[in-house]
Amino acid sequence: MIPDLKKNDVKNNLQNESLEIQMLLEAIHQKYGYNFKDYANAHTKRRLKHRLNLSNLKNFAEMMHRIIYDEDFFNSVLLDLSINITEMFRDPGVYKKIRQDLIPLLKTYSFIKVWHAGCSAGQEVYSMSILLEEEDMKHRSQIYATDFNELILETAKNGIYPLGVMKTYTSNYQLAGGKNNFSDYYTADYDHVILRQSLKERVLFSSHNLVTDGVFGEMNLILCRNVLIYFNRQLQNRVLKLFYDSLCPGGYLCLGSKESLRFTDMENKFEPVALREKIYRKKRLP
Ligand SMILES: C[S@@+](CC[C@H](N)C(=O)[O-])C[C@H]1O[C@@H](n2cnc3c(N)ncnc32)[C@H](O)[C@@H]1O
Repeated sequence: MIPDLKKNDVKNNLQNESLEIQMLLEAIHQKYGYNFKDYANAHTKRRLKHRLNLSNLKNFAEMMHRIIYDEDFFNSVLLDLSINITEMFRDPGVYKKIRQDLIPLLKTYSFIKVWHAGCSAGQEVYSMSILLEEEDMKHRSQIYATDFNELILETAKNGIYPLGVMKTYTSNYQLAGGKNNFSDYYTADYDHVILRQSLKERVLFSSHNLVTDGVFGEMNLILCRNVLIYFNRQLQNRVLKLFYDSLCPGGYLCLGSKESLRFTDMENKFEPVALREKIYRKKRLP
């Protein structure tokens, strides 16, 4: 009898907690316009709990009150929910594949458009900028780099990163088939590095929310890596359709290492180009 009672208590608590989270996400949506309701439940819960533990708050109901009345607090919750972890030449094999297999074809076009959706602090964008520069394609390219988090976009625009991460970035660059010395691309200044100004040419950073905003037309290559992993299946399908509509026929889509088109609505609308690197190509005929 007693264990059953306990089980019911646990079940009740979990249901209440999940209700509080739903109400909190609704409050965020109504007050600030950010819609996290279709993010993966486990992810949202984990990140909100993390903030709850750091703050002196008893439960999600109290947290909701704080979010509504304290915008600075909301901004830290926004950072928690958006997870900005990134690297230059992250998963070097992906960049190597792009260089070896995609670039020869993209080179036959007079102009190419590349979209980094969920670009975080810009490392992925500057990696592409380096690659295009080394392949002598920069002058006939336009890179669009978007994220919904305006604070992180500011870091991206500055292109200034801690010195301590350069060792990893250098090793990634070499594994990705980089043609120069990686140090040619930055100047060190005390504990940080400043990326070369030329890497910002042909790059346009702007705010774009994948949940609510529309298409970017006629892209030749879209990279959206390590973003869909935080969305539920319904939202993944919405965003993948957005990418499909934004790509020109034969355009490429590159996802993160733990993401794929399998079991999504778009599975048959793309053909795999490199399964390990999660690179797909939009079919010419639907
Ligand atoms: C883990 S980072 C990935 C960064 C980079 N693409 C990479 O793979 O290294 C995820 C990024 O997606 C962004 N993001 C999350 N939800 C988004 C949304 N609804 N619209 C646009 N960007 C979003 C976050 O702000 C964050 O910068």
